[in-house]
Amino acid sequence: MTIAEPTAQSVAEAARLLRCGQLVAFPTETVYGLGGDATNERAVAAIFEAKGRPQFNPLISHVLDAAEARKFVRWTPVAEKLAAAFWPGPLTLVLPRAPGSPISLLATAGLDSVAIRAPSHPVAQALIRATGRPIAAPSANRSGAVSPTQAAHVAESLGDRVPLILDGGPCLVGVESTVLDLTTTTPTLLRPGGATREAIEAIIGPIAVSHALPSGDAARKSPGQLASHYAPARPVRLAATSVGADEGLLAFGPTVPQGAMLTYNLSPSGDLGEAAANLFAMMRTLDRPGIGRIAVMPIPETGLGLAINDRLRRASQGHDGADDGTARRG
Ligand code: TXA
Ligand code: MG
Repeated sequence: MTIAEPTAQSVAEAARLLRCGQLVAFPTETVYGLGGDATNERAVAAIFEAKGRPQFNPLISHVLDAAEARKFVRWTPVAEKLAAAFWPGPLTLVLPRAPGSPISLLATAGLDSVAIRAPSHPVAQALIRATGRPIAAPSANRSGAVSPTQAAHVAESLGDRVPLILDGGPCLVGVESTVLDLTTTTPTLLRPGGATREAIEAIIGPIAVSHALPSGDAARKSPGQLASHYAPARPVRLAATSVGADEGLLAFGPTVPQGAMLTYNLSPSGDLGEAAANLFAMMRTLDRPGIGRIAVMPIPETGLGLAINDRLRRASQGHDGADDGTARRG
């Protein structure tokens, strides 16, 4: 792992790493981010793996400005007003995924919405510009640890997991961005952060505060309790070692039971990173008319397997109503 002063050369090297699917830690005005190419499922899987996240929490995609955001989300007049007032800066907007949006399904945890923000830190901006792609980035710490506001914090927490840390000095805001959901009739505050509720309401009028979601740290640790996670319409049967003719099989590893109506293999070689990268797309593909149920082979409970199994458990419970009783958007 290298900690580099941000120069034209180190930023170009960071962009090169990102474009070939590797991770780079970089400063934003809020906290340091652990960045990966938001359009590359494997790179996003690597982010979850490096963080040791027991769940797939949807990630924020970082872009340069509103013009770029419009390529990835369905933009709205309210988004336009907020971006004009707060971007670049510590406000994340949750908007519907644009048709054909290349943002990784894993980055959005299979949701039909995308969280997007334009950071104001010049190093973050230079990196996004040099990479030419949206950058998915959660805070650059191991899951459960506090968010890093200095390059040294990142090195302590993730030094062995990230090849390059761009050192932009201490973060000026020091708390994460405010997350505002614009897919609801009244915009809903999902996470308080660097942009205040008062400042937001001064631009767009009264907003709602999510109750489905505990605020702050608790929210980040248990995002799966949030309403909006995608759950398949079909029942999901876990730990399947044999399969019925009416079932679609989500397989894992080289030895696959025969007889399913349709089979997709998360990773024939048993690679959990590959499985994570394929999870949401394959679940969606199996969730189709003609299939009575989705059977899932056992996934090892190690590494990324924890997050995969967490997501699968939620999917299997989600059938008779979302886990928390709120409407699903999937
Ligand atoms: O300041 C920040 O936001 C930092 C820097 C690096 O930009 N990033 C950060 O990311 O804090 P993370 O992954 O730790 O937090 C992302 C938050 C989570 O609370 C997540 O649940 C929410 O954004 N989020 C992401 N996508 C969402 C979506 N589609 N719908 C609802 N919430 C979403
Ligand atoms: Mg975080």
